[in-house]
Amino acid sequence: MSTYPPVANVDSLPPGTGRTVEVHGRRFALWNIDGEFHAIDDDCPHRGGPLGAGVLQDGHVHCPLHGWAFDPKTGACLSNPARPVHCHPVKIEAGQVWIAF
Ligand code: FES
Repeated sequence: MSTYPPVANVDSLPPGTGRTVEVHGRRFALWNIDGEFHAIDDDCPHRGGPLGAGVLQDGHVHCPLHGWAFDPKTGACLSNPARPVHCHPVKIEAGQVWIAF
């Protein structure tokens, strides 16, 4: 069964920004894409780069270490389609972003 702990204030992540959030010992990359929040695993499947510290370009998150690109809406890896990341459901409630995992 999924749980939805709150991970960030909605106002703390304006559109076009993201960051790594940690909850219950797990790290997620949380991104605000045009006002919609998306959460993917933070660890890049290439060599573990923090995707929450990546660069957003054309709706894709680029890993800060070697530039692999990911779609934060699906977890798909554009650089290596065989290496996607998990995408986690997100909900907004009481001014907070909640991630299911
Ligand atoms: S660790 Fe992410 S592209 Fe290398």
